[in-house]
Amino acid sequence: MTFLFNSDARRRTIFADAFARELPDVPFTMDAATVDPDAVRYLISWTVPDNLARYRNLEILFSIGAGVDQLRLDAVPANVKIVRMIEEGIVRMMQEYVTLAVLALHRNLPAYLAQQRAGEWADIAQLQAGSRRVGVLGLGQLGQAVLDRLKPFGFALAGWSRLPRWIEGVTCHHGEPGLEEMLVASDILVCLLPLTEETRGLLDAALFAKLPEGAALVHTGRGPQLDHEALVAALDRGHLSAAMIDVTDPEPLAAGHPFWPHPKIILTPHVASVTQPATAARAVIENIRRHRAGLDPIGLVDRSRGY
Ligand code: NDP
Ligand code: OXD
Repeated sequence: MTFLFNSDARRRTIFADAFARELPDVPFTMDAATVDPDAVRYLISWTVPDNLARYRNLEILFSIGAGVDQLRLDAVPANVKIVRMIEEGIVRMMQEYVTLAVLALHRNLPAYLAQQRAGEWADIAQLQAGSRRVGVLGLGQLGQAVLDRLKPFGFALAGWSRLPRWIEGVTCHHGEPGLEEMLVASDILVCLLPLTEETRGLLDAALFAKLPEGAALVHTGRGPQLDHEALVAALDRGHLSAAMIDVTDPEPLAAGHPFWPHPKIILTPHVASVTQPATAARAVIENIRRHRAGLDPIGLVDRSRGY
């Protein structure tokens, strides 16, 4: 009953130590070349290895990240459980990033940076937080955690999910009609949706047109959810004021892509949140214990939904 680790060496040592300490009866290896494939019951990876079929007794495929779209779910045998990463490090980093982004957009940072580059010293009318409406697409572990972290600033908060949700201090919307209701009342829109067939291309010209004049975007979901050309067009004609973008398609963007020099875009290289090995190892070990006790792992992916 071996655990096969298919990720970077930096995280490997921390995972290996945690397994030796907490789960000594589960041999841990990173060496796919010498492992007995029939012994592999658990595998952690970012993508599905091409030779997955050789692990005939695999029980759980753990995603090293919170997202699972990169795993090609249909390439994984139906009897194998797929588990996404739910761990406190990834949540904390996303809270930091989105708070940074929302505050930067709320306080007109992209416009002030442009003024600095132009040698211009001028104030921009500043809304108070209570008059700024922040809408979050996705009310899962990350969307909810981000909203929680934004509460003390006093923004008017809203969120959107597939099924109805109730969150104190947050106006919750769901489904197709709920999307429009939230968009028309979002001065800063944050995307924290998983990539599925329903969310691919969601951030397009039609969606931007529903946002109020001068609205801003924070995109930390997945690159293929965003229509790059539509964003540039909405920014260039002034309908949107600014965007903070962490994920693109492809990653990295090609040299010469309009996002690189755009004065209204702050671009980061898919670093909003990163799995933290110590807390992630704890979460994976806890999930193996649950699985062995006959319980569902936390973060079990529903293949029919795609997340
Ligand atoms: P969860 O699975 O916990 O939550 C997903 C949320 O999205 C749920 O609220 C779900 O609704 C909602 N949702 C999914 N599909 C739809 C739809 N069609 N219409 C409306 N709502 C929908 O995911 P996480 O919060 O853990 O992560 C979200 C995403 O963040 C990841 O999939 C990944 O793409 C991205 N991410 C990005 C990182 C970065 O560094 N940029 C780092 C980590 C994650 P419901 O509640 O009804 O199920
Ligand atoms: C993730 C990511 O899904 O880093 O964890 O994007």
